[in-house]
Amino acid sequence: MLNHLIISCRKKHDDRQSANEGIIDFMQYTEEQLQQVMDAVQAGAGYRAISRDLVEKLARVELVKRANLKEAVKATRSALHQAVGAYRERFDVRKIQRELDELGEGADEDSMKNFCLRAMRFHASTQERLAVLEIFFHQTLQGIAPVRSVLDLACGLNPLALPWMPLAENAPYHCYDVDEDLIRLDRSFLMLQARSGQAGLCDLTTGIPRQKVHLAMLLKTIPVLDQQDKEASQRLLDSLQAEHILITFPARSLGGHAKGMPATYEARMLQLVEGRAWRLQKFIFPLELVFLLTK
Ligand SMILES: C[S@@+](CC[C@H](N)C(=O)[O-])C[C@H]1O[C@@H](n2cnc3c(N)ncnc32)[C@H](O)[C@@H]1O
Repeated sequence: MLNHLIISCRKKHDDRQSANEGIIDFMQYTEEQLQQVMDAVQAGAGYRAISRDLVEKLARVELVKRANLKEAVKATRSALHQAVGAYRERFDVRKIQRELDELGEGADEDSMKNFCLRAMRFHASTQERLAVLEIFFHQTLQGIAPVRSVLDLACGLNPLALPWMPLAENAPYHCYDVDEDLIRLDRSFLMLQARSGQAGLCDLTTGIPRQKVHLAMLLKTIPVLDQQDKEASQRLLDSLQAEHILITFPARSLGGHAKGMPATYEARMLQLVEGRAWRLQKFIFPLELVFLLTK
């Protein structure tokens, strides 16, 4: 029975607290209650496509902090919105998927690029990069081009920017995110491009893909992971089997405010490479601060 219970602790707020200041009381929740919270969270349309692993991880965090299941559901949804939903436009995934299917394997390069440009607007991160897409990857990757293999992590819809990347013709492209809708679209696109590689679900706070690659990409991902797990980014950078890692940070918030973000994120980057014999190259774009890390 005991291993069926997840035990957490919080400070007591009843009368005994004053008499026994500092005594910790244990709040318990069962696996069944955890499942109830996860199911309630994912009953909402905006949360259905999010990886169950991430929902579970955040629900566990909230369950120990909240007074009841209803509050835990609300707080878990809020954390998931911050991590995933805030970046996505509301769009009809099936309609976009159908458009891609109709383009099919025989699509000419211009039609495919036009589709990618339209689809990338549905995710804030790729949308913000569109204005500099023609130079973004060429400038940041020119020192290592042609790139021989890619691991794109927390990728969103960035795989659709592949036609603008200086890749070797047969370079495999692996990409992962926690949003199943986006991953399905990425996978279909990569298949139509006849690119080898994988597109799958992966919660980077609990799992790290093991592919050995020439280039890993962590575009605008570190701030998102920092909100979920303070150690995740360091673990990731230390463990990735990549010769180079392209790392970016937003230079403005989603609402368009700068709020000293470039300086804050440059300091965060320097903290992450401290004590490691890694080389960093920095590039500045109007909406994005970029580092090419060489291990
Ligand atoms: C700011 S967006 C960046 C998207 C993409 N890298 C880009 O720059 O175009 C953050 C992405 O991280 C994903 N994400 C959030 N938490 C994650 C986690 N724990 N593991 C993997 N991906 C996560 C979200 O679904 C979202 O697509």
